[in-house]
Formats: sequence, C-alpha cells, structure tokens
Amino acid sequence: MIRDALTEDSILPLLRDLRIRWRVRAYGSIVSTNDTAKWLAGSGAPEGTLVVAETQTGGRGRRGNAWESPPGGLWFSFVVRPHLPPDRASGLCVVAAVSVARTVIDFAGLSARIKWPNDVFVGGRKLAGVMVMSAAEGALVVGVGINANVPELELPAPAWYEATSVQRETGESCDRAALLARVLAEFESRYFAYRGPDHEGLMEEWRELSLVIGEAVTATVGDETVHGTVFGIEEDGGIVLRLADGSHRKVLPTSDVTLSVRK
Ligand code: ATP
Ligand code: BTN
Repeated sequence: MIRDALTEDSILPLLRDLRIRWRVRAYGSIVSTNDTAKWLAGSGAPEGTLVVAETQTGGRGRRGNAWESPPGGLWFSFVVRPHLPPDRASGLCVVAAVSVARTVIDFAGLSARIKWPNDVFVGGRKLAGVMVMSAAEGALVVGVGINANVPELELPAPAWYEATSVQRETGESCDRAALLARVLAEFESRYFAYRGPDHEGLMEEWRELSLVIGEAVTATVGDETVHGTVFGIEEDGGIVLRLADGSHRKVLPTSDVTLSVRK
C-alpha cells in the first residue's frame, strides 16, 4: 500500500468529526478537480462534495492560467452552498486563502504568507493557490492546489517568482490526507464564522498573514491600472488602496484582477 495514497478510505475517516458532511470522490488522473466539482454542483451535489486527484491534465488557475499538477501534489475542489449575497460571496476567497496559509503554518511548521488575492507563499516562493468559482445556482466551487510532496525537480517555473513545495521546505514528505483534512477543518471554522456576523477575526488574521499590507502596489483590473498603498481589507475580500492624492480606492478580488508589489 502506498503510505500516502489519497483515497476515499484514507480521507473520509479524518473528516468524520467535522461539521460539514463531507463526501469524497478520489481520482487518479483527471482533467481538473474544479471542472468535475462544478459539474457535480450543477447536478445538485450537496455542500461538502469533495473531488481530489493525484494529477490533473488540465489544471487551471485564475484567468485561465495553467496550473501544473504533477504527482505528489494535493489538488482538490469542493462544493459549498453558502446562501450569501454575491457581494459577500467574494470574501470566501479570503476564507480559503487564510485557511490554507494557517494549515501550512500549523501543520507543516512553515512561515506562510498570503499574496492577495489567492496565492500562498513561503520564503518568496509560491507553495499554493486557491480560487473560488461560481458553479450552479447557489453553489460555489473552492479549488485548492498545494505543492505538498512535489519533488524540487518537478516544481514548475512560474513567470516572476519560483515555486516551492512542503517537501522542499521541510526536507520530508507530508501525509497529504492529513494535510487535506486540516485545510478542510480550518476552512469550516472560518466559513461558518464568515456566514455569521463576526468577520473581524478573519480580517485580522488576513492582515497578520498578508504579504501586501502597507506595501506600494499596482493593481490591474481589466484595462485599468491603479497605483497605491494597501491600507486594509474589507469583509467582501476587497482591499483598500490609498492613492497618491490621499483618496481611497477599493479593489475587489474579481477573477480578472492582478496585483504586483512595487519595489
Ligand atoms: P496573481 O498574483 O495575479 O494571482 P499569478 O501569476 O499567481 O498572478 P494565478 O492565476 O494566481 O497567477 O496562478 C496561476 C499561475 O501560477 C500560473 O500562471 C503559473 O505561473 C503558476 N503555477 C502553475 N502551477 C503552479 C504550481 N503547481 N505551483 C506554483 N505555481 C504554479
Ligand atoms: C491560482 O493560483 O490561480 C489558483 C490555483 C488553483 C489550482 C487548483 S488545483 C485543484 C483545482 N483544480 C484546478 O484546475 N485548479 C484548482
């Protein structure tokens, strides 16, 4: 038996004490766990439907970017039905990013930080990415990619930064089923809090973990480019920039936004 196999049998017992009733669909190779989860959501799959794969042949990040998904990584997507107005649902991207970063810190002992809106970095290298997509009526799909046990030589070489994995950072491989269960536990607790009235804890956690707070940045949204300093975050996941003229401008975590930190 492969010690670290990602199967329904290895994952489900670790999710039994959680609040959501998780249902696991584990695959070997698949085009994209996002696509499968989205399809399942469209067919009425309940909240907690989880799709996980050993490899993806067509993994995607935001804006249609390719997401490299070699063996050893942790690639998964799950369905949520949060009953939130659309302007609040955008904040689930922050819920997911904070949950992944917190897991990487507590489970793997690494100093993870979040690059808004959706990347988790360790030591200046990208270790994980998250995305939230609307699926069917009332359903969203949260997609998470973590370079868990991807060997250094198989890590992709993204454009302006380097990638890393838990294995590269800690020098040993991790138990991916346990890592997955921990991400879902961290997600659940923040998800239920976010659906209630108390968001300040989440926003405070994001501020603590953020790579961009207080930094001079350039945000591009469609054809528009905005320069400013990151002043804060709001409960819909939007960041507030202070511009050179002293005015403030909010930038939402939409699928077409990009943010770069100016040196
Ligand atoms: P942004 O900062 O705006 O999010 P980004 O370059 O991180 O920009 P994303 O769409 O968030 O873009 O992430 C997808 C990008 O991540 C790809 O274009 C690629 O450069 C990089 N990438 C792809 N696979 C991996 C991976 N397994 N690990 C780390 N990075 C990856
Ligand atoms: C990003 O950084 O842009 C987000 C990357 C999200 C990748 C994960 S891997 C599992 C799920 N399936 C996909 O095709 N994408 C997400």
